[in-house]
Amino acid sequence: MSNKILVIGACGQIGTELTLRLRELHGNDRVIAADIRQGNEELMESGPFEIMDAIDADQMENICLHYEINEVYLMAAMLSATGEKFPDKAWKLNMTSLFNVLDLAKEGKINKVFWPSSIAVFGPTTPQVDTPQHTIMEPTTVYGISKQTGERWCEYYHSKYGVDVRSIRYPGLISWKTLPGGGTTDYAVEIFHEAIAQSKYSCFLSENTALPMMYMDDAIRATINIMEAPATQIKERSSYNLSGMSFTPADIAVAITKHLPEFTISYSPDSRQQIADSWPSSIDDSHARKDWNWQAQFDLEKTVAVMLEHLSN
Ligand code: SER
Repeated sequence: MSNKILVIGACGQIGTELTLRLRELHGNDRVIAADIRQGNEELMESGPFEIMDAIDADQMENICLHYEINEVYLMAAMLSATGEKFPDKAWKLNMTSLFNVLDLAKEGKINKVFWPSSIAVFGPTTPQVDTPQHTIMEPTTVYGISKQTGERWCEYYHSKYGVDVRSIRYPGLISWKTLPGGGTTDYAVEIFHEAIAQSKYSCFLSENTALPMMYMDDAIRATINIMEAPATQIKERSSYNLSGMSFTPADIAVAITKHLPEFTISYSPDSRQQIADSWPSSIDDSHARKDWNWQAQFDLEKTVAVMLEHLSN
């Protein structure tokens, strides 16, 4: 039987590109997009769309049964910076939506789940450089706490109930189709828009804040690869470390200046600095490489070149 897929949070930064790619692979009508609001034209016109609030279990179940869904990608979440402003809302959205999906899988109403975790599961006591797969995790943001808790529940549902749930700890994601919203790594997308529009950018993180990052094409490929891998190859049922590149605001500014010589950057760190300081600067993803042959393709230079090319058009 071929897959019938539901992407929840389909209009967000990852959801938009994931839905479009899954539609290319499986056919437009086999991939249902769902979100609390409508998305961009390309997404809305390419296939079925349902308005859904991911915390509404009945609505989620009805949509799954109606479309005979067997695979769910749960991309709806409140990210790190917004989560600090609305801790209760972030906890409620991030946890309730996950339980809704895991319970559908536990009851046999869907067969397979993808749920994203994040580098935000790590905290100030985590080794910061080449952070290992298994290490100290004492996150200090509500978002990070929700992701770490979610990882524990994914592993629990897998080991107790046999739920086939797969997960990746995404680094900061850089893309041009849809803007990110409310994250600490958002500067690495904003900087391109401002570089093209204004030739300058005021960065909310300090010059030497190194963070793990990844170009969206790599993230989408990783997501599809982990979901397509045979179940026996998925050894981590919490979530996999995933690494693309690592850079500071100063590094990306230099890379942009090579294409736009007049570009300048200034720094005015805000509350997001503290979040960034608590996260790793680079990630060891050797488990993902070994278990399901992961390999990133985009480094900083290549990412800057494609971002500027697409956004200039
Ligand atoms: N990009 C996310 C954030 O900054 C991390 O997962 O919140």
